[in-house]
Amino acid sequence: MRETVSFGRPHCAEKRKMYAAVILLVFMCLTATTHADHHHHPCHSPNMTGFMTVMNLKGEVRAIGAFTYDSTAKKLRFRSNDSTPINTSLHLDLLVFFEEGILYEIDSKNQSCEKKKLQCNLHPLDIPDDATFMSTMTFGNPSVEGEGIKLNLWTGSMADTKGKYTMSATMGCLPLSALYYTGSTTFFVSHVDIESEIKDPELLLVPSFCQGLPVEVTPEGTVNSFLSEFM
Ligand SMILES: *[C@@H]1O[C@H](CO)[C@@H](O)[C@H](O)[C@H]1NC(C)=O
Ligand SMILES: *[C@@H]1O[C@H](CO)[C@@H](O)[C@H](O)[C@H]1NC(C)=O
Ligand SMILES: *[C@@H]1O[C@H](CO)[C@@H](O)[C@H](O)[C@H]1NC(C)=O
Ligand SMILES: *[C@@H]1O[C@H](CO)[C@@H](O)[C@H](O)[C@H]1NC(C)=O
Repeated sequence: MRETVSFGRPHCAEKRKMYAAVILLVFMCLTATTHADHHHHPCHSPNMTGFMTVMNLKGEVRAIGAFTYDSTAKKLRFRSNDSTPINTSLHLDLLVFFEEGILYEIDSKNQSCEKKKLQCNLHPLDIPDDATFMSTMTFGNPSVEGEGIKLNLWTGSMADTKGKYTMSATMGCLPLSALYYTGSTTFFVSHVDIESEIKDPELLLVPSFCQGLPVEVTPEGTVNSFLSEFM
């Protein structure tokens, strides 16, 4: 049976990026205990287009692909790209409506779709409202032009589980990475090449061949989430 909390498997756009992500992860772990500042409230990301990599800590890149996110309507499309130089283990095309609590698994090749109910709205592009501020950190040399990226780190618990997450975002609230861990599974999600706009709004529409589908019955004990698609 599936675990209650699932995380996506990571994908990497490039080995270099993956390496950077792992280093960041280490930093995030090291700083996880720094003092909390109660004056910070979680920011919300803007509309975005970019690339997402989901890996697990067994070193498997689960998927790499482009995402489109509407931060107002809370809609997310993620499509994995199988022609990257890194082997990935999943082929995914996901369209998620977080407000409605619906996730579509899309198969464009054979024009089929699965429609699922979400039991958990957690996802790596937005910091939950109840996240706790951890610290602000600067990566690189802040006194050199073009160097030094300042990040806010946030942490929180996953509902109904013993899981935890840690997320980082720029001062403009562009998400850089998210680490989700439970006792048995850890996922690391990182984002690169983010643009603060929706480049192709069509990607956030339900494809014609997915319309009118019934919602699938969720087996007891299963928690559907964006991350569980990467299990
Ligand atoms: C995001 O895009 C949607 C659809 O284009 C738009 O309605 C919304 O106002 C945008 N939100 C922001 C914060 O720009
Ligand atoms: C998929 O990855 C390849 C190699 O990195 C890249 O050239 C291509 O543009 C990507 N395609 C999409 C749709 O992102
Ligand atoms: C990807 O996997 C195939 C088959 O397992 C292997 O032959 C190939 O070398 C791998 N490529 C990379 C870049 O790891
Ligand atoms: C579509 O393809 C997937 C995987 O290739 C397969 O599992 C599924 O049964 C197919 N669906 C239909 C309706 O042919």
